[in-house]
Amino acid sequence: MRGKFITVEGTDGAGKSTQMDMLIKYLEEKGIEVVVTREPGGTKISEKLREIILDAENKEMTDTTEAMLYAASRAQHVEEKIIPALNEGKFVICDRFVDSSVVYQGYARGLDMEMIESINKYAVCGLVPDITLFFDITPEAGIARKKNMHQLDRIEQEKMDFHYKVYNGYKALCEKYPERIKRINAENDIETVHKDVLAAVEEILK
Ligand code: TYD
Repeated sequence: MRGKFITVEGTDGAGKSTQMDMLIKYLEEKGIEVVVTREPGGTKISEKLREIILDAENKEMTDTTEAMLYAASRAQHVEEKIIPALNEGKFVICDRFVDSSVVYQGYARGLDMEMIESINKYAVCGLVPDITLFFDITPEAGIARKKNMHQLDRIEQEKMDFHYKVYNGYKALCEKYPERIKRINAENDIETVHKDVLAAVEEILK
């Protein structure tokens, strides 16, 4: 039986990693084999592309180049790692996927949405997540959380209006794909958020 594909989305600093760790533990305790991965990245080649994309010194990178590098990194990731794992019956939990490109490169950078959708459709061989968890937190609260943790990378240095475009982009996607994308209130305490995650994931465990 094919495994399930879970993607995790949110603005910067939404607390995705903590919640992913808790979800993985829960699934593994149920005896489910889980592959955890992230975008951009997840394979040797995709991680190399990630370094180029997020390098704070690459200030001259054009928006189109950025969009294509994300899609290239994703194409390698899907074919080399995600699809084989799903075919082996494993669950794959991926930190960000196509929705991130639609939101960051499409809604926020303002690139042509059809172009973003079509290069990504081509990159993922038609793969669509079984469920997407969107961790909803206002950009101010998210950025404040991250600033305490480490130096900001190139994307995180963008101005607040960029982060609001990202946030509103996610909200628009939630409305467009209510079946697939589950909104989780990430401003709640850790345990409450975890309970909401489990309630959302329960549907695909049946
Ligand atoms: P990362 O440090 O993994 O951020 P986070 O912990 O918030 O997930 O860096 C990934 C950054 O790349 C993040 O700011 C979102 C951005 N991104 C895109 O712009 N497009 C994409 O397709 C993906 C996957 C990520």
